[in-house]
Order: sequence, then structure tokens, then C-alpha cells
Amino acid sequence: ALYDTIISGGTVVTASDRILCDVAIKDGRVVALGSGLTDADEIIDATGKLVLPGGVDAHVHISQPSGEGIVMADDFASGTRSAALGGTTTIMPFCLQEKGQSLRAALKDYHAKADGECHVDVSFHLIISDPTDQVLGQELPALVEDGYTSFKIFMTYEGLALNDREILDVMSVARDTGALVMVHAENYDAIRFLTEQLEKRGQTAPRFHGTSRPIAVEREATHRAISLAELVDVPVMIVHVSNREAMEQIRWAQNKGLTVLGETCTQYLVLTEKDMDGLGMEGTKYVCSPPPRDTASQEACWEGLRTGTFTVFSSDHCPFRYEDEQGKLTPKGRTSFRWVPNGIPGVGARLPVLFSEGVMKGRIDLEKFVAVTATNPAKTYGLYPKKGTIAVGSDADIAIWDPKKKQTLTHELIRDGADYTPYEGIEITGWPVLTMLRGKAVVENGELVGAKGAGEHLSRAKSPYAAQRDPIAS
Ligand code: URP
Ligand code: ZN
Ligand code: ZN
Ligand code: ZN
Repeated sequence: ALYDTIISGGTVVTASDRILCDVAIKDGRVVALGSGLTDADEIIDATGKLVLPGGVDAHVHISQPSGEGIVMADDFASGTRSAALGGTTTIMPFCLQEKGQSLRAALKDYHAKADGECHVDVSFHLIISDPTDQVLGQELPALVEDGYTSFKIFMTYEGLALNDREILDVMSVARDTGALVMVHAENYDAIRFLTEQLEKRGQTAPRFHGTSRPIAVEREATHRAISLAELVDVPVMIVHVSNREAMEQIRWAQNKGLTVLGETCTQYLVLTEKDMDGLGMEGTKYVCSPPPRDTASQEACWEGLRTGTFTVFSSDHCPFRYEDEQGKLTPKGRTSFRWVPNGIPGVGARLPVLFSEGVMKGRIDLEKFVAVTATNPAKTYGLYPKKGTIAVGSDADIAIWDPKKKQTLTHELIRDGADYTPYEGIEITGWPVLTMLRGKAVVENGELVGAKGAGEHLSRAKSPYAAQRDPIAS
């Protein structure tokens, strides 16, 4: 036959258009879009369905060491399985440099953990925790050329936080190499100060986690990160923005003409601090940083997505099991929120929650949904147009959605390696009924049908925000 597969009769949606047409696939790529396409080994009837680019989740943590006696709940098999169950076909997890470790050694570890295990495609960002001369002068520039074109730095967390001088050093390597810097913006000293105050008062329950990192802590660090980036004249991505005041720092910078990008995440749209009320230790299920705030903050994050202040919508998937001494119920965590591992699972829930709460409730339109969940993350991090759209020549990474399917979100539907989802019980309209990676089905009707190892590691081009691109190249 002329084609391997034709997806017929569905509504194809991109970041700019929705068109009733067929999609023809050959050798893992989209080769034609048109009406009345025929002659394929397999025809998938998508009548009444939406044919969307597979999701690109640009912020995911998998198998990352997270403190003594703590184990992350997902390996690459279970994390990518959950991604596929939720309609995501590319994830960008972090490769963490530990103190004293070379970046190459860190990458070797993460590739060893991921290779042959993944159900969807994977591309690593680096986390720079130890910016030595060797790292800044040799390793990092070489790795950017090898396709690791983005790295995250932290303004908080023991063992990860960089001081302002170190941030400037890393940012100036990004400027020289055309890499994109992602910043976790929270003020470390302020958090330590507030944590000690709370502990002195005996306020150590999980719900005081949020009290220890209020909005001002995030707003200040966001502004500082933007100012440092302005000083070295480099674009910056502020990740996991949780509230209006931090968002307004980004908007202010954008209005000034600076290339400052923003990301928000599922938890900031549908969770609040109040979700922890009366839960005792079960409140640890919602402990992540920055913490979910209040309903006004949720509204601000929706607004940021609608108006384009936020370019990217991610999960910040960072899973720990709840009923587990190596997870949320670590013995030290019972003595203070300070020791509860930070992070919540969400790689599988990201798209269904945004589709249902955003598109079906009229807060964003379908094209915006595709833009912030697939096209923009692919563009921002140098994977476009291979990933993030449905176009001739793109990888046939496609999620076919039934926009009418109604169900209650449960952990069983998204099956990551954790033992709960913070989004349990949300009524969801719309679900991806088929997820395909390079033309091959990975998930069909909620069942995993693809094999481990179908997912590959992707090396990335430089971000168009950070590097000068050939203006007419595709
Ligand atoms: O609490 C969170 N978000 N943990 C994941 C690590 C990070 O800072 O993104
Ligand atoms: Zn690899
Ligand atoms: Zn972070
Ligand atoms: Zn994160």
C-alpha cells in the first residue's frame, strides 16, 4: 500500500487551525494531509474525534535522587507509560548533576536508566548544581553542541541552590552557547528563615510547607532571576509559576522587551493550599514547590495561559509514593514538613485535566491547548517541527481524543509509579483513546499496547529564543 496508516475523518487540530481531514503516515512520519486519502495497510476511523499532536511535557522528574532514604516512584518505564496513557508522546526529564560530579558522568547514569525502557520519546535537560570552572568552561559548551540545549538552575533547595554570582556564571555560558536557562525561582534564605520560625512554634505539619514559602518568596526570586538574565542579556524561562505576582514580574519583563518566558503547571490551575486542610500527614500528597496557592492564583495562571504570558504548560511530574517510608511518609517527614520530599505526580493527568478544565469549560480554546501542551514546548526546546505539530514531515506522534468521554479521574487511569494522584476525583470530559508514537500505537483505549524501548532519546536543536536561527529553514 501507498501508506502505512491513514487516520480518517477526524478533526486535526494544530496550534493555529482545526481542519476536518485525513492524516497519512509512512515510516513513522506524517506524509500527507487531505480529504479522501486511501490506500493504507491500516485505516483508523477517527470520525467524531479530535486528532491532536501528542503532548510534549517539558518538565518531568524521573529516577532523580531526592535525599537520603528517599526514592522517586517512577522509573523510565512507568513514567513514560503514564505519559502515554495521558496522551503525551515526548517528555523532557532532568539529568541531575550531583555535587562533585561531571555532567558527562551524570548523563551516562541517566541514559543507562532510560535506554531501552521508554514507551515515549525522551530528551534530557541538565540540572547544574556544581558550576565549576571545568563545567562552565568545557563540559557545558560541549554538551550544548551535542544537543543538550537547556539547563535548569535552582535558587533554593539544600545542595542545589546557586548564589547570584553562580547564576550569572551559568547564564553567561548560556548566552555564549545559545542554550536556554530554566530557573526555579524561590528565595532560599527566606524559606530557611521562615521554616525555622515555624519549627520554633511547633508548626511542623505538612500544611505549613506552603506557609514556609509564601508568594513574596517566589515573586522576589522571579524578579531577581529576570534581572540577572537582563544583566547578561540572555533569555530565561521561569518554570512552575504559581501565582499572579510572579506572573506579573514575567509580564513586566516581556513588556520591557526582554525575552523572558514562563511556564505554569497543572497543580496551579486546580489545586489550592486548602486541599491539605484537615488531612494531617496525608497533606504530604500535595507537598510541592512552589506550593499551590488559592483560587485567585488559579485564575491568574489561567489568564497567563490565555494571554501568552506563559508559553508552556507542564506537569512538573515528580512522583513519590504516599504509603512508603522512602516516599511521602519518610520518618523524618513526621518531625517536620521540611523533610517531606517535594513534588507530586502528574505526567499522565496533565492533558486530560487541561482539556477538561480548560477547553471544555471554555477557559482556553483547542488551538491554545495544542499550543501550550505540544507546539510551544517543542519549539521552545528545539524539537519543532519534528515534534509538537501535525504537519507533513513531522513525526507521527498523535493522540486521538474522544472529546465527549466522561469519567472520574483515578490513579488507575494514569498508572504512574506512585500510589495516588493529587487529581483523584476530578470529573473529566475528554480523553485520549489512542496514543501513537512515530506511527505505532502505544496506548489504545486505556491499555498499553506498545513495547518498552519504542521511545528514543532525542538530541535537540538550540532554542529559537536563545540562538539565531536560519530565517527560512524549516
Ligand atoms: O516540588 C517540586 N516541584 N519538586 C520537583 C523539583 C522542582 O523543583 O521542580
Ligand atoms: Zn540514551
Ligand atoms: Zn523546580
Ligand atoms: Zn520540577
